[in-house]
Amino acid sequence: MSYQSFDVTPISGALGAEVHGIDLSIPLSKQTFEEVHEALLDNLVIFFRDQDLTPEQQLSFARRFGGIHLHPYMKGLDDHPEVLAIIKEKDDTRTFGASWHVDQMFTEKPAMGAMLYAKELPPAGGDTLYANMYLAYDALSEGMKDMLTNVKTFAVGDRFKRLGGQSRKDVYKGVSVMANHVKDPGDVKTENEHPLVRTHPETGRKALFIGGHVQRFAGMTDEESAPLLNYLKAHTVRPEFTCRFGWKPGSLAFWDNRCTQHFAVGDYNGSRREMHRVTIQGDRPV
Ligand code: SIN
Repeated sequence: MSYQSFDVTPISGALGAEVHGIDLSIPLSKQTFEEVHEALLDNLVIFFRDQDLTPEQQLSFARRFGGIHLHPYMKGLDDHPEVLAIIKEKDDTRTFGASWHVDQMFTEKPAMGAMLYAKELPPAGGDTLYANMYLAYDALSEGMKDMLTNVKTFAVGDRFKRLGGQSRKDVYKGVSVMANHVKDPGDVKTENEHPLVRTHPETGRKALFIGGHVQRFAGMTDEESAPLLNYLKAHTVRPEFTCRFGWKPGSLAFWDNRCTQHFAVGDYNGSRREMHRVTIQGDRPV
């Protein structure tokens, strides 16, 4: 795919591409915006280097793609509540987002996408991994695809089984500054069922819709769900479905949350990392 407004360089065979020649601090022309949108649909996650963005400029770019999806459990910046600061301090030992997941998959209408902007990085490490859920679906046998039709997952936003059912607050307490950012979700519904195989609303392609928030299949017990669920969680992140992005200050990643999972690699204890995330509203998966 070639674009008029910029150059695009893929970073792996599975997904992910760097977009060169755009300054995101200024409003994009209609053509450039449409081509960025196209590049996202084509590559699933796109990366911009050497950006210099205020929270307001990052929000303006995000709003071209839709309304802002607020995290039910995590507070944003005091002066920009739509911007979530993801911080690991030097003394922290827990990393936010260090499991394969889909952002806010536990909500009724999970995010369409997210934009993550690098403010401060460790000297080495702190990469983010992404996985292509179209490829993961396509690689299944026809028998498995048939069996998964109509299966729904049950996802929760807190007290995950893999963390022993602890609350978010307790998970971060004493090991991550993110403990200070946890909030009560109020009346937002944070436990939801979604189709395991979803059809992307823009490309029409089928993708597995699965991640760390999924606890079991809807209408089944934990024990009944575990064997197939564990198989699928491992299958979806096979190395050949993934890419790895190495950040530099000023990098911005924009991923399509409807057909990817991602994982923040926590391999930099002793160093500080600060990112600003803006998440865009999505629709009900079908
Ligand atoms: C996330 O959005 O899950 C965080 C990713 C990262 O910090 O690399």
